[in-house]
Amino acid sequence: MSISDHGAMRTHGNGHLRAEHADETVTLAGWVDSRRDHGGVAFLDLRDRSGLVQVVADPEASDALEAAHRVRPEWVIRVTGTVRVRPEGMRNDRLPTGDVEVAATSIEVLSVADTPPFPVEDGIDVSEDLRLKHRYVDLRRPRLAHNLQVRAQVTSVIRRVMERNGFIDVETPILTRPTPEGARDFLVPSRLQPGESYALPQSPQLFKQLLMVAGVERYYQIARCFRDENLRADRQPEFTQLDLELSFADEEDIYGLIEELFVEVWREVLGEELQVPFPRLTYAESMRRFGTDKPDLRFGLELADLGEVFADTEVGVFKGVLEAGGSVVALAVPDGGELTRREFDDWTEWAKRRGAKGLAWGVVEAGEDGSAAATLRSPLTKFMTDEEVAGVIAATEGSIGDAVLFGAGKTSFAFQLMGALRVAIAEDRGLVGAHDDGSTRWEFVWVVEPPMFDPADESDDPTAATAEGWVPNHHPFTAPAPEYVDDFEQRPGDATTRAYDIVLNGTELASGSVRIHDADLQRRVFRFLGISDEDAEEKFGFLLRGFSYGVPPHCGIAPGLDRLIMLITGSDSIREVIAFPKTQSGSDPMTDAPAPFDPAALAEAGLKLAPKPKAD
Ligand code: AMO
Ligand code: AMP
Repeated sequence: MSISDHGAMRTHGNGHLRAEHADETVTLAGWVDSRRDHGGVAFLDLRDRSGLVQVVADPEASDALEAAHRVRPEWVIRVTGTVRVRPEGMRNDRLPTGDVEVAATSIEVLSVADTPPFPVEDGIDVSEDLRLKHRYVDLRRPRLAHNLQVRAQVTSVIRRVMERNGFIDVETPILTRPTPEGARDFLVPSRLQPGESYALPQSPQLFKQLLMVAGVERYYQIARCFRDENLRADRQPEFTQLDLELSFADEEDIYGLIEELFVEVWREVLGEELQVPFPRLTYAESMRRFGTDKPDLRFGLELADLGEVFADTEVGVFKGVLEAGGSVVALAVPDGGELTRREFDDWTEWAKRRGAKGLAWGVVEAGEDGSAAATLRSPLTKFMTDEEVAGVIAATEGSIGDAVLFGAGKTSFAFQLMGALRVAIAEDRGLVGAHDDGSTRWEFVWVVEPPMFDPADESDDPTAATAEGWVPNHHPFTAPAPEYVDDFEQRPGDATTRAYDIVLNGTELASGSVRIHDADLQRRVFRFLGISDEDAEEKFGFLLRGFSYGVPPHCGIAPGLDRLIMLITGSDSIREVIAFPKTQSGSDPMTDAPAPFDPAALAEAGLKLAPKPKAD
């Protein structure tokens, strides 16, 4: 036997009533969304997860009318009554149930409610702290309720697609040892082994590789991951990945599987058909054309490297930078000629706040007699040769009326700065492409063959650098590209890996790689990263030992589920798609976590608190 559709206490979902139910006696339950009391007759909007329906209480049912006078927003009530079609002119087109109302014969109060801390409706202007403190009320708002439903729909499609492809769901431990993914670990003190701790997994990476050694071949898990890092709109200290790994497979299997999965998710959840295969870009090309490894392909504004154009230039700022081995990078802004002097100055300030020395600009204009080649109106033009002007316009593909913006500096900095400017300008000038009906365009791209190592001074986490100043671009289990396997140590700046990211509209959605499946190669990578054989044994001995018992070639990937749902629902933060998220400072205003240590628990774990650092 299964439970009835709506539970034993009611007959219908409020949002499901239609004209076809006219004259039926129904019992409904839910929260009072709003009340309009005209004395002789009272209207209640009754809400449950299926939607809203209007309930009418009039003097014919005096007990019901008396109860309707008493109830207040967010009280929980049960209503029995008759469905009737609303009179012409009283229908509400904005409600799916707007053709009907329920004439109450009885109203039973199931629970009273205090005045909610904020109205249960979308588009309210309330601090996030207050919303999170009363998240149970926040989650009643249609938008958040919808996000939770979409999330469940997506995980359901994920499970179906993974099972169809022969993957099995395996749980991996939460109390474990550190997994290096580039963040700090959350530690859990052990009571049974005082003075020792577990680490919460930054990802199931090591366990999923060992499941390949174990012969599982196709593993997946909707896995919670924990990372103690600085939080942003798309980062939470605990978040969820669709984590997967497969044996006897390579990049093409991953691309095919993930494309199949995303096609099905978009079809089922949004009713949209994605075009596959997704385009692929090498990391190097992505950096060169977009100044980032997370390119947003909904708009053009591609970067142009003007090193050759200005090779012999007399423009002071460019000359100095190029002589020092740096780069001059430019982009054309369509119709940017409309920008005022003041606006160019604002963008220059924008660049300076990001550490740039300045930003140069020009406007592409028609040549003097209209027929001659285009020229550049710019404070710098008087220092440029005609060839340089023509070269700039050609390289940026600028048209008459466009603005050209130039950033010059250290190569990686100049490209990243102009890449960030590209996104900011596109947003500011409304150039981010959408469909004709205003709906979001979905531009997926695989970014492949990233470098094996980044120079430490360009890394988010320079503390992880080797003595030679390198940090791994991905986790250290990533296989080098075949041509670098023998000698990546000799040319760490050139070496690339068999890693791949999937980027959607400028957000990194997933990351993965073909793994090292050779214990000696794995030890060489550890050694290069400054992890001694003893350290490697201590931290990853179990992985290396596993590899010594027969390991298949394997690869995997992990899409971030929260980011996926954030993009699908058009939310601007992953906090909008997580039932109980943490604030930017990592706390939960509802439960007041984290909480001070319990002294007894500390003593049992063999721990003592250091005195609090004095605030000065
Ligand atoms: P990576 O560390 O790149 O790879 O993470 C994979 C994906 O997880 C999501 N993600 C996050 N989402 C929310 N909050 C966070 N703090 C956060 N950190 C990461 C992103 C990211 O693309 N073990 C490897 C995967 C592999 O190689 O198979 C890993 O964890 O969407
Ligand atoms: P300056 O010579 O510093 O007065 O700068 C002349 C113009 O060049 C100004 O518009 C600056 O904003 C711009 N500029 C200065 N440094 C750079 C740079 N590194 N890249 C691009 N433009 C710059």
